[in-house]
Amino acid sequence: MNKMNYPSESSSVRYSGPRIKNIAVVGTGYVGLVTGTYFANHGINVICLDISEERITKLNQGQAPFFEPGLDEYTHKALNKNKLTFTTDYDQALKEAEIVFICVGTPPKNGDADMSFVESALKSTCEKLDHDAVIVGKSTMPFGILSWVLDVIKDNKKDNVKIDWVVNPEFLSEGTAILDMESPSRVVIGGEDEEAVEKVVSLYKDVTSPIIHTDVESAALIKYASNSFLATKISFVNSLANVADKLGGDVTDIIKGMGLDPRIGSRYLRPGIGFGGSCLPKDIQAFYKTAEKHDSHFDILKVVEEINLNQTKVIVEKLKDLLGTLKGKKIALLGLAFKQDTDDIRESPAARLVNFLVDEGAVVVGTDPEAMPNFRKLNLEMQFADDAYQALKGADALVLVTEWEVYFNLDWKKVKELMADPVVVDGRNFLDKAQLKSLGFKYTGIGTR
Ligand code: UGA
Repeated sequence: MNKMNYPSESSSVRYSGPRIKNIAVVGTGYVGLVTGTYFANHGINVICLDISEERITKLNQGQAPFFEPGLDEYTHKALNKNKLTFTTDYDQALKEAEIVFICVGTPPKNGDADMSFVESALKSTCEKLDHDAVIVGKSTMPFGILSWVLDVIKDNKKDNVKIDWVVNPEFLSEGTAILDMESPSRVVIGGEDEEAVEKVVSLYKDVTSPIIHTDVESAALIKYASNSFLATKISFVNSLANVADKLGGDVTDIIKGMGLDPRIGSRYLRPGIGFGGSCLPKDIQAFYKTAEKHDSHFDILKVVEEINLNQTKVIVEKLKDLLGTLKGKKIALLGLAFKQDTDDIRESPAARLVNFLVDEGAVVVGTDPEAMPNFRKLNLEMQFADDAYQALKGADALVLVTEWEVYFNLDWKKVKELMADPVVVDGRNFLDKAQLKSLGFKYTGIGTR
């Protein structure tokens, strides 16, 4: 094995062997589907595998299992080029695969990442592979697991087969996943074996952004550090907004003043109801817990988490300030997804908010352009409305939870007529507050009024 000298950051490492023609992708969630489709659209034969028959049947009919802007077209394009195949059969997926991407979920389990899906995908892949290959960990996996991974590979692979392990974390944001894949800010590749790393690098031939080569642990840490830093920025700005609220300042101006310093930047400084999703909340927790297991500490992230959970209560306090008691009051929530342009409700602050409001005796009605089917499954004590106007009929207050464009463009005159009391709590500082105030709404945002 030719060992890499790392960390090395350059795009100069180029694979000079035969072109990689066939890859397999295990797992067809966000990461797997977008990754597989990307490589297929860039000339590689891709077989995506999932153990769910139902999912594969739908994918073969061109139906993505979740809402992601542009993904249906992106998938159709690859299918039409005959570069993309979906299957539940490991033998079919691995037959010619030179590189296998593991893209299965690593959901939270008691604060850790649950590695059981990775383990079973790795085992099945190793058991079936009868030729040399590179296995790439693309799902977010904790650091400190290299020896465990190597053991799983060693214990399950065929004797005469050489398998190399490479880590290539994903940096896709839901809602902009295709753009993030097509124009990534960076590609991170961690691995020990030079040829294996170079093979993976060669798949990113159309990428012009920096490619960072490093060791496996650093690659995993880059992913955790990135998400944790973004989460820290958000909790920082939410705390700042809460202080501005108490002092009567305006956080929008404060952020502008801070963000223009290029050392700080203005991104991920949008105050709001708190961050959610399947990544930031889970990753900060897994980061500090895994650090502790390795006799290290990342206590700042515990505070980031606490601030985030409390941020939903800020909305309840604002409603109480404006309405007095919430008992029997009808509160309309616009948006249920954890952010706009997705139907994902995992760790959505909307769910926390519903529970807090119900505890206060409020009647909650929610709506969302895409996320209602998923949100209904939570079985919370609330009603659902087909659209914003229906939700707002007779409402004592509106809370903007998710910044869907359709809510910005509502007919606000009509909204005012529909509501029992024109109270707006803008949980994302998203609405046109000048317009709303001029129409007579009682508006409050987060750190801005
Ligand atoms: C996040 C990262 O942004 C991706 O780079 C990463 O690849 C992904 O996790 C992952 O680990 O798979 P995502 O979970 O899709 O992506 O969501 P973000 O767009 O980062 O938003 C996370 C949460 O923060 C949302 O609830 C959003 O509303 C909130 N947010 C974001 C704020 O409250 N303020 C901001 O300024 C930005």
